Amino acid sequence: MIPVFEPRVGEEEIAAVVAALQRGEISGSFGTALGAFEQEFAAYCGVKHGVAVSSGTTALHAAVAAAGLAPGDEILMSASTNIATALAAVHNGAVPVPVDSERSTWNLDLDLVEGLIGPRTRAIIPVHLFGHPVDMERVMALAERHRLVVIEDCAESHGATCRGRRTGSFGHMACFSFYANKVITTGEGGMVVTNDDALADRLRLLRNLGFTKPRFRHEIAGFNFRLTGYQAAMGLAQLRKIDTIIEAKRELARRYTAALADVPGLQLPAEQPWARSVYWMYAIRVLPAFGRTRDALAEALARAGVETRTFFCPMNQQPCLQSVPGFRSAPCPVADDLWTTGLYLPSSPHLSDAQMATVVDALRGARAS
Ligand SMILES: Cc1ncc(COP(=O)(O)O)c(C=O)c1O
Repeated sequence: MIPVFEPRVGEEEIAAVVAALQRGEISGSFGTALGAFEQEFAAYCGVKHGVAVSSGTTALHAAVAAAGLAPGDEILMSASTNIATALAAVHNGAVPVPVDSERSTWNLDLDLVEGLIGPRTRAIIPVHLFGHPVDMERVMALAERHRLVVIEDCAESHGATCRGRRTGSFGHMACFSFYANKVITTGEGGMVVTNDDALADRLRLLRNLGFTKPRFRHEIAGFNFRLTGYQAAMGLAQLRKIDTIIEAKRELARRYTAALADVPGLQLPAEQPWARSVYWMYAIRVLPAFGRTRDALAEALARAGVETRTFFCPMNQQPCLQSVPGFRSAPCPVADDLWTTGLYLPSSPHLSDAQMATVVDALRGARAS
């Protein structure tokens, strides 16, 4: 089976992890790798502070907690996203409000945002889906007008730029994932980046059970969201390779697009003129003109040894959100449509020409059959 993604751990990562272990950096409380990873990754994003945590999910959870919302406050967010984005709201007592997607980039439709703002709306979480940036200049202007806290969900967009500025550098906070299939990985891991000194301090407290002085007397109810030192060491080794990884992902997208551009009935990923996507995954939509449904195509690809994955089930359809008190789900017809027509193809940056030919031939064959 050609997997949708295959992580590649090099000699550099292995050496860095072993060296961190030999230095005794096994927890998330001391050592040099953690601070170095935070500083270097924040600098890569063009932001002052980085607070490393155990996953993208806990990064979002900590960021929403640091935003200091009251129970029942609402957070606008992309309808088409990983459930982690919405759970960060729910587990902090806030209410997620899904914003439908737009048809070209599949990111949240900024034309809909103002119509969804109500008296309890306090924050917005734009998700840079599949590595294509949201137009963050528009988001920040909207947020300023309505005094919203902006938390970017950059789990899929490390290094992507919006008018030359990296995602993660616009919002009051931005959350990254370093899960195994992400642009760079620490296996499991995440980071919140921010330019705000007070938010950075609060995030550090929240990550570490609210430990202050005297030890064991806790002013705030924190969490254990710590990343280990050896994971941070792996992150540093990965960060050295990030530009090469992104270039390989962009090249993979170019090759796919060249090979699929003439296939009727496929919507291929767009890149806005002001954007530089990192194509976290090469995602496509299967339209009626293809002659086969998305599910029939996925089955045909699976028979040919090609793994695929569907787009996200949108937040407006999530059973686990329906019972959240105050949950009001405006219709999200575009996100609903993405859920039934979208899928992503094998997207490892090191996918070989032969593997890509297998994917493309199987896809063309499925249309013809
Ligand atoms: C958009 C988005 N947000 C949040 C997450 C959660 O990250 P993690 O898996 O590291 O908890 C993911 C990915 O897994 C994601 O794709």
